[in-house]
Amino acid sequence: MDESRRIAGVEEVPEESTLLATLRPVDSAAVDEGEGDVGESEDGTPEVEALLTRAAGEVRAFRNYCQHWTDVRLDKDDGAFVRNGEVFCQKHGATFEADGGYCNFGPCEGAVLESVDVTVEGDGVFLADDAYEFVRLGPSAKQGDDGGSRIDFTGN
Ligand code: FES
Repeated sequence: MDESRRIAGVEEVPEESTLLATLRPVDSAAVDEGEGDVGESEDGTPEVEALLTRAAGEVRAFRNYCQHWTDVRLDKDDGAFVRNGEVFCQKHGATFEADGGYCNFGPCEGAVLESVDVTVEGDGVFLADDAYEFVRLGPSAKQGDDGGSRIDFTGN
């Protein structure tokens, strides 16, 4: 696998949280600016985020926006809340199965997180999704915050 597509070491991907990576979509015209993980690089091209987790035992990656309010990020750059193999949205409490992204509880029950294909080779996790290029670990260059004045149940 191409070293430029190496995202992280397998051990860096948490089992009880998530790791953020910034990706560049190959087709920038396909980017939906309303999705909460979309940012803009210095050269003006869109960037998006993937969250990676080992909560399901193996490394999985998904785009970092909720299926309920798509402008809400699941991982706000400090790790999403993960328990018992599920990724939580802290806005309204939706839970997504970490092995496939299926929402099994909450206001978007039945929806599925957008997968990003990754593969493990040796001790590394590599981006296997042809729709993206790997940019860096960490968040995209955000253009705004998460839903402006929308307030979640924690008061944030
Ligand atoms: S925005 Fe995620 S559950 Fe409502």
